[in-house]
Amino acid sequence: MCGIFGYVGKVDVGQTLVTGIRRLEYRGYDSWGVAIGGDDGLTLFRRVGRVSQVDEPFKLAAAKSWGGIAHTRWATHGEPAERNAHPHMDGAARFAIVHNGIIENHAVLRDRLRAQGCVFQGETDSEVIVHLIASLYDGRDPRAAFVGALRLLRGAYAVAMICADAPGTIFIARDSSPIVIGRADGCAVVASDPCAIVPFTRDGIYLADGEVCALREDGYRIWNLKDEPVEGVVQKLAYDLESVERGTFKHFMLKEIYEQPRTIRDAMRGRLARGSGTTRVDGLGLTEADIRRIRSIRILGCGTSWHAGLVGRYLIEEMARIPTVVEYAAEFRYAARVLEPDTLVIALSQSGETADTLGALREAKRLGATVVGLCNVVGSGIARECGRGLYLRSGPEIGVASTKAFTSQLVVLALLALHFGRVRGMSLADGVRFLDALEALPDQAEQILGNTDAIAEMGRLVAGHRNALYVGRLYEYPLALEGALKLKEISYIHAEGLPAAELKHGPIALVDKDMPVVTLAAQTGAFEKMKSNIEEIRARGGRILAVCREGSEDLRSMAERVICIPPTLDPFVPILGALPLQLMAYYAAVERGCDVDRPRNLAKSVTVE
Ligand code: G6P
Repeated sequence: MCGIFGYVGKVDVGQTLVTGIRRLEYRGYDSWGVAIGGDDGLTLFRRVGRVSQVDEPFKLAAAKSWGGIAHTRWATHGEPAERNAHPHMDGAARFAIVHNGIIENHAVLRDRLRAQGCVFQGETDSEVIVHLIASLYDGRDPRAAFVGALRLLRGAYAVAMICADAPGTIFIARDSSPIVIGRADGCAVVASDPCAIVPFTRDGIYLADGEVCALREDGYRIWNLKDEPVEGVVQKLAYDLESVERGTFKHFMLKEIYEQPRTIRDAMRGRLARGSGTTRVDGLGLTEADIRRIRSIRILGCGTSWHAGLVGRYLIEEMARIPTVVEYAAEFRYAARVLEPDTLVIALSQSGETADTLGALREAKRLGATVVGLCNVVGSGIARECGRGLYLRSGPEIGVASTKAFTSQLVVLALLALHFGRVRGMSLADGVRFLDALEALPDQAEQILGNTDAIAEMGRLVAGHRNALYVGRLYEYPLALEGALKLKEISYIHAEGLPAAELKHGPIALVDKDMPVVTLAAQTGAFEKMKSNIEEIRARGGRILAVCREGSEDLRSMAERVICIPPTLDPFVPILGALPLQLMAYYAAVERGCDVDRPRNLAKSVTVE
């Protein structure tokens, strides 16, 4: 949830570090800092707030330097303050480090180092790393001190270090937190996310857990935990520059919403087998016999991914008739759960890094479940831990509020459910019917995005309120949860999602003329019942903002505002219905002057529990 960037080379070191770290700002943005290595040793700059332009002393230090490391932070241990911002330095200013992840035994190490006379500046768990390295340094071998310190750490980390005694080298290590290096003409770079590497090179080398690297302008060396040399595997970084730039869009979130016709198509590309009315999901590594044997499914995820999982449950139970339970990953992990034999566990995660989901996945494996991952980020921790699964293919998602990854998750879950269904008795005709509807989705998404005036107006209307309710039935219930989450995340309006039938069992007490109620009524199966719920809300003076399917014109007389989406089969309504809800939240946030791409207190991927 923080960003690491490092550079060794000759081109304007200061500016390069600032530009690099700004590319990672979406991962964390309450404070930032840079350590520069030069002829006069190491120089440190740290600031609270967003990455900004740098001042004269910074430029002077950068002018005489060989490189440096930079960090953008999302506070976990210690408030956002200069003393807690990375990089951290030891007392003699010989070492500077940046760290992503969490050091679980930091308190013990801190006490030990304090007893040796170490003075700590801040409260972060990361600061112990640099003091530990300094305490182990023999004055000759910085790498040995680095490795020695890593051996004493418990937890997860990606660390980059520079040392005044080792000009021209960045030392890097990884355990559970991603880090990638790359080399280009006259420079070398390291980052926690490939989006900061691709402006330099498309050839990246991901370090594996336990690996340590010495990176220089002219090359790199990698060792494993036993200190044996390792060959780095060069991979093509799948990111293209366009996908990590905003282009003409005002915000990444808006750009990502508009990418959905393409990302929905990409999620299905090559995975539909029309002739046999099924889908190709070979990545799951499950034979037909394996699928027939599954007795239950457990879906694990957090935040938006958990909402996608809830839709997945409806899809799997309807199409494949397999009992399915969806759980918050962190709850599953610590709740002494019991899994019956032949349970398939599906881990859902955009980033593939979320600590709660990764932990839950390990617990599921310990309990003997077969696990598969549905992730967006290729090679991410969760993808690797599962060893099999399906990628979402939605490309880098930079806006903190998840949009295109959500709809891709729904598509991929639908492909899985359809395949399982066909193996377990769904008719060919039904399979083909679902495939036809799936294939129509990208164009239908395009159609929704082609005319957004009414949606923007609805967003502006909601912006004037302090609260909002979202209600829906069946497939539109998780969608209501997701719509409410989007609004909360980026506009800070309090919103709740509810199953529409539950309204009358309590929450309807909240409804009055100041309460906008977003009623989701685009499924044919639930339409009449939703109309009754709308009447209930109207009778209490609530403001009805309806999302329905084209053709349900009679709703116009019942609702204050109506948005129509193209007709699709009920199981796919959340895929199309997500678009107006995402846009509505977006326009509400813009109207309220909120920082859409970097909402307060949130981080894109949460690598702490
Ligand atoms: C964070 C993000 C959410 C996201 C959740 C799960 O809380 O702010 O937008 O839904 O993590 O992330 P994942 O990468 O596992 O899908």
